[in-house]
Amino acid sequence: MNSNIIFLNEKLNALEFLNSYSSLFIIMDENTEIHCLPILINNFDKFNYNLIKIRAGEEFKNLNSCEFIWGNLLSNFVDRNSCIIALGGGVLCDITGFCASTILRGIDCVYIPTTLMAMADASIGGKCGVNFKNFKNQLGSFKLPISILIYPPFLNTLNQRHINNGSVEMIKHCLLEENITSSILQRIENMKDPHSLSSELKKSILFKNKIVNKDFKETGLRKVLNFGHTIGHAIESLFLSQKKDALHGECIAIGMICESFISSQLYGWKPEILQTIVQILHEYTNGHNFEKSDFVDILMNLKHDKKSKNLTIGFSLLRELGYPVVEIEVTEPLIIKSLEFYSN
Ligand SMILES: NC(=O)c1ccc[n+]([C@@H]2O[C@H](COP(=O)([O-])OP(=O)(O)OC[C@H]3O[C@@H](n4cnc5c(N)ncnc54)[C@H](O)[C@@H]3O)[C@@H](O)[C@H]2O)c1
Ligand SMILES: [Zn+2]
Repeated sequence: MNSNIIFLNEKLNALEFLNSYSSLFIIMDENTEIHCLPILINNFDKFNYNLIKIRAGEEFKNLNSCEFIWGNLLSNFVDRNSCIIALGGGVLCDITGFCASTILRGIDCVYIPTTLMAMADASIGGKCGVNFKNFKNQLGSFKLPISILIYPPFLNTLNQRHINNGSVEMIKHCLLEENITSSILQRIENMKDPHSLSSELKKSILFKNKIVNKDFKETGLRKVLNFGHTIGHAIESLFLSQKKDALHGECIAIGMICESFISSQLYGWKPEILQTIVQILHEYTNGHNFEKSDFVDILMNLKHDKKSKNLTIGFSLLRELGYPVVEIEVTEPLIIKSLEFYSN
């Protein structure tokens, strides 16, 4: 079980495999219609394709968008030999995968991710789904796209905030993979340089793909990818309830600072290592912070996290750089210390 990841550096010319489908459905949103479709569409002249446009943004990652897509597919005679193509960010890939896994009991899909978050993370690994009643990603399935086409020039129209957002997941991959501070620093510098971003992106994608291929259903190894996400998700929920405009990557940068602190305390990191990691990640938090009075809500959110079993929370941490460990129990006082470490 594997997706074919195709890196396209110059031209989008690797689409011949789509010839085998009876019809293609390209799902886009109002932004990718403007910025990405014109780059792609000339290559589709020879195919029988339909376009489906949904509204952009996390608030439209819901069943209404799915209903709209399912309806459109059915009224345009989708069949079991059709293929659905996502042209968009993580929201669009997650919705498309879910629609593809449910229509006619599952048909093929292809992802053409257009944000850094989607290229480096959301399109890889087969998790897809939508939000339901204010709960994130609560309806979904595992669906591997047949192919994932990575075309970095799509990033030229993405704003710096969204580049930083995706960079956070790439930094996470780097911290899980590398154990020499100088190589981490070099890789992060490369991410900031548009000329070397593509090669860093490729390393990041191959790293995530290697992990998910070994543990598709997240029963063990794949949990390493949750580094920064236990506290990060709890903070994301807090900011959501406060109607703060914070992106996932910005919350995960904070989560990785807190969880690096916890790792350093549990595993005796050298202080300068922690300092280096914190300094790097601070650039990606977009200055978001919280008050001491928010700690109680963050702790409550942690307990509601879907990764918590019987109220003990399994953290994915770093024994040292490049050596992740999973299902580590962390005491509440240490969690609070990590929140204080960040917020002071
Ligand atoms: N399935 C997974 O494993 C996984 C992993 C990480 C994140 N996700 C999901 O991904 C989503 C976040 O993804 P995202 O950050 O890509 O957000 P997004 O899909 O909302 O895209 C961000 C914005 O950029 C616009 N956009 C997309 N491509 C563009 C381009 N090339 N130029 C200009 N604008 C463009 C979009 O229309 C949108 O407004 C979340 O819902 C998250 O849950 C899923
Ligand atoms: Zn994430």
